[in-house]
Amino acid sequence: MASPTTVFVVIIVFLTILSAAKATGTVKIGLMLPLYGEGGPYQPIGRTVPGAFDLAVQHVNEKNVINGYTLEWSWKNTNCSTDNALIDIMEFWEDGYFGIVGPGCSCVHEGRVASSVYMPMIAYMCNDDGVYDKEVFEFPTFFRATPHGSTVASPIVTLYQEMGWKVTSIIASDDQIYQSTYYTVKTLFDSNSINIMNYRSFNSSFKPDNGDVSPFLDIITETAVTTRIYLFLGRQPHLQQFAIDMENEGLLKGDYLIIGVSIDFQLRNSQDYTDTGVNSEITRQAFKSVLIVELQQPAMNNTELESYIAVIRNRSAETFGIDNTLT
Ligand SMILES: *[C@@H]1O[C@H](CO)[C@@H](O)[C@H](O)[C@H]1NC(C)=O
Ligand SMILES: *[C@@H]1O[C@H](CO)[C@@H](O)[C@H](O)[C@H]1NC(C)=O
Ligand SMILES: *[C@@H]1O[C@H](CO)[C@@H](O)[C@H](O)[C@H]1NC(C)=O
Ligand SMILES: *[C@@H]1O[C@H](CO)[C@@H](O)[C@H](O)[C@H]1NC(C)=O
Repeated sequence: MASPTTVFVVIIVFLTILSAAKATGTVKIGLMLPLYGEGGPYQPIGRTVPGAFDLAVQHVNEKNVINGYTLEWSWKNTNCSTDNALIDIMEFWEDGYFGIVGPGCSCVHEGRVASSVYMPMIAYMCNDDGVYDKEVFEFPTFFRATPHGSTVASPIVTLYQEMGWKVTSIIASDDQIYQSTYYTVKTLFDSNSINIMNYRSFNSSFKPDNGDVSPFLDIITETAVTTRIYLFLGRQPHLQQFAIDMENEGLLKGDYLIIGVSIDFQLRNSQDYTDTGVNSEITRQAFKSVLIVELQQPAMNNTELESYIAVIRNRSAETFGIDNTLT
């Protein structure tokens, strides 16, 4: 689930920039929200976070964090469309806004445009490649509050090293985010003498729920003899199908291990690895042989997090008129 805490982080980063800026009286910042996810796999992440932005701005103003200056803000709905987002950025710029929190979906074009007019932009939810190498891509005013998915590569390598695993096979979705994760992992495996015995990619359009034929059966037939540890880089439904196929092939009796990654911040509830649908029993059985590597949990404990989320939902409804029952 997307964490409203990222918006807090965003605000703090903004304050750091603002403290260095010489503005007068009020400072205007723009918030961009995708309220509906048009196209792509995105869900409307913009419905889960805006109350956190509103709350953070209130704290900043009440506590006089930026030395006599008051934050003002307004927001625009991008619907997760790059074209909408580019127009929104230009409008914020024309209207004299200092910076932008967003867009909330893709960011490579948006970050480029914001940088071209020296407008700070802080993405709270973006997994695009291309923006993370500031040296190469020259996005001088772009920041990202969530780590790029490929940062999971380092803990994976550490895991292999700690366990003394020297040989593995990798199965990766052809999605951009998993492909770039694969290349990062491969580079680190190569330089740490971890041998990739087999590599296969699969079409990310494959939908297990639609009754599509699983691409994993052939992959398993081709690779199982030379594999004990599979590193699976793909979304939750795909990992689940792969584990089920392995289970159905009778392979998950202790000889095989599947390692999955949880890097899907854009899809809400995408970390639910024990689906309660028709496959639940077999999924539970299969997942006894699955290990998930994920990024760190929020610093708040569950009680604090639940009450924080309740406040954020309330503010999303009150301030933005967003029916947040979806989350
Ligand atoms: C966003 O999508 C909703 C639902 O499809 C639509 O009603 C609304 O007009 C769209 N807004 C923008 C700014 O594209
Ligand atoms: C992936 O599958 C979709 C839908 O079946 C198809 O349209 C697309 O061409 C496939 N892509 C590749 C790279 O095979
Ligand atoms: C969670 O944190 C709060 C505040 O720090 C504390 O009062 C509470 O006891 C903690 N709850 C649990 C279950 O750890
Ligand atoms: C938000 O909280 C206030 C104060 O507790 C309450 O009066 C209001 O009904 C809540 N709004 C929603 C939409 O839950």
